[in-house]
Amino acid sequence: MHVLHMNKGEDECSYAKNSLLQKKIISVGSSVVEAAIFNVLLEVQPKSMGVADLGCSSGPNSLTAVSQIARMVNATSQQIGLPVPELRVSLNDLPGNDFNNVFKSLPELYRKMKEEYGIEDCFVWGLPGSFYGSLFPACSLHFVHSSTSIHWLSQVPLGLVSSGGTHLNKERLYISKSSSMSVVKAYQQQFHEDFSLFLKSRAKEMVSRGRMVLSFLGRLSANPCADEACYHWELLAHALMSLALEGLVEKEKIDSFNAPYYAPSPQEVKHEVENDGSFVIEGVEAFKIEWDDGGSSDHVMISSGNRVAKTIRAVVEPMFETHFHLGHELMDELFRRYAKIIDDCFTRKKMKYTNLVISFTRKSY
Ligand SMILES: C[S@@+](CC[C@H](N)C(=O)[O-])C[C@H]1O[C@@H](n2cnc3c(N)ncnc32)[C@H](O)[C@@H]1O
Repeated sequence: MHVLHMNKGEDECSYAKNSLLQKKIISVGSSVVEAAIFNVLLEVQPKSMGVADLGCSSGPNSLTAVSQIARMVNATSQQIGLPVPELRVSLNDLPGNDFNNVFKSLPELYRKMKEEYGIEDCFVWGLPGSFYGSLFPACSLHFVHSSTSIHWLSQVPLGLVSSGGTHLNKERLYISKSSSMSVVKAYQQQFHEDFSLFLKSRAKEMVSRGRMVLSFLGRLSANPCADEACYHWELLAHALMSLALEGLVEKEKIDSFNAPYYAPSPQEVKHEVENDGSFVIEGVEAFKIEWDDGGSSDHVMISSGNRVAKTIRAVVEPMFETHFHLGHELMDELFRRYAKIIDDCFTRKKMKYTNLVISFTRKSY
């Protein structure tokens, strides 16, 4: 929680410049969001509507989801024949997020809301804190949204080091086909603890019949080691190991790194929802998204591998800086190698992520 944030600012390696993939993910989930907004407006008819975007990050995408939600609230209210509610919008992320960058874009958002969507009463604020825990007053939220964020765990799972101090997931950054069962179990246990706390917290904060749409990287396979969930980490581990073989990175540093990440299956999510008992799952949609379906927004012609590497770098670099202390040149070299490995991989197979979009209703209470 103290280390995780996307690359700040607006330079070549920033999340702001390398988040077209996540933008695409927001757009593929929009029909699910629209249906959820229609239902909450119809059933709850709020005069003042509490909206939260969890894991908003910084850059163009931070306001994309919120702007889309406002447009939908306006259009749907008119369609149903209800007055457009006042909007109270919370943009949440971890305290290390570049909120200043987000705030700079707020005047443009307010202008758009007023001039393009006819929304006069919209109040947006930033809320630093972890979504794994309480963030909002009780019964204050009508609609909760989150895109490409819930696959981050609250911490690296415990249990990845033996009682004798041996690292159990050596030469890997995440679960992989060669990980032992105890490593897989440690990740599953952390997901269970985190997601159950997430549901418990949102259950208190959401009004009866409120709606929530969560879109995140997951998997369709029952197997947590399936390529759709792990392969991008595995190739990144190969790139790091190639540096270690040349003595440029300590191998022990690779052995001791484990990503605080988990790509769950719909069954695992359903299991947690049933255990919690406060939500109903209205629908689960799965989209396959090509790894290089996005990348950099600087329009320079680069290889697919480079596009993928830039997208991943914008997300993991702050974590890597803290753990590996590589320095800028070695970090560049790492992602050059990663890009090359991905380009080689793509000559055999185009890889795809699985993105799940799940729509929930807060049960009546
Ligand atoms: C890949 S970004 C997605 C940003 C944005 N929603 C988008 O679609 O582009 C994931 C964001 O989730 C945030 N995040 C991860 N874990 C979090 C937590 N426990 N609480 C709040 N935010 C978290 C990260 O800091 C990061 O900004």
